[in-house]
Amino acid sequence: MRTGYEGQEAESAGTSSLPRIAVFASGSGSNFQALAEASRAGQLGGEVALLVCDKPGARVLERAREAGVPAAVFEPKRYESRGHYERDVLQTLGRHGVQWIALAGYMRLVTPVLLEAYEGRILNIHPSLLPGFPGLHAVRQALDYGVKVTGVTVHLVDAGMDTGPIVAQEAVAIAEDDTLESLLAKIQAVEHRIYPQVVRRLLAGTYGGQEDKA
Ligand code: GRF
Repeated sequence: MRTGYEGQEAESAGTSSLPRIAVFASGSGSNFQALAEASRAGQLGGEVALLVCDKPGARVLERAREAGVPAAVFEPKRYESRGHYERDVLQTLGRHGVQWIALAGYMRLVTPVLLEAYEGRILNIHPSLLPGFPGLHAVRQALDYGVKVTGVTVHLVDAGMDTGPIVAQEAVAIAEDDTLESLLAKIQAVEHRIYPQVVRRLLAGTYGGQEDKA
């Protein structure tokens, strides 16, 4: 069941010629906000046209309201299967003319319904240097393990959990006195900086090109 905000789910696909991006999020939405702000500032090379949220009441919905981004809220448990849920999501993406998907704290695996419709155009951000520490609690696990360097990965999404081709990574050093909170803050600062940069460069088609080999 889709329960988009009253009046906020515009049916039009907009007038801008920029690629249209849907951000999928389930929680706080600080990465959604970073992407929406870059979009608004004209620094994304694309437009954050829609938030898809699978958790009614999530903080990210407030951020979308504040940013003036339409939100579509879904309740997956009301659907017979993950496929049925994603077919409904897919229809909504179509109505909004969405061309790219950026997962940002979206707490579910993507199924072939979206993977096939958006092949090579679904990104995810993860708070570790994949393939190390996939899944939930990546920051805590890195700290508990005692690694001296962790980081942030942006990758293309496939059917696995935090798998799929890596697009960009940035390392974050772990200091002797880092706590979970201090390390989370360092990692989030990197996430908020690199996710918009990576999206911009991917949309511009520069990944893998001369610019990146320099
Ligand atoms: C981020 O750390 C992201 O890497 C992970 O989930 C977290 C989402 O944070 N996939 P927020 O909701 O964007 O604040």
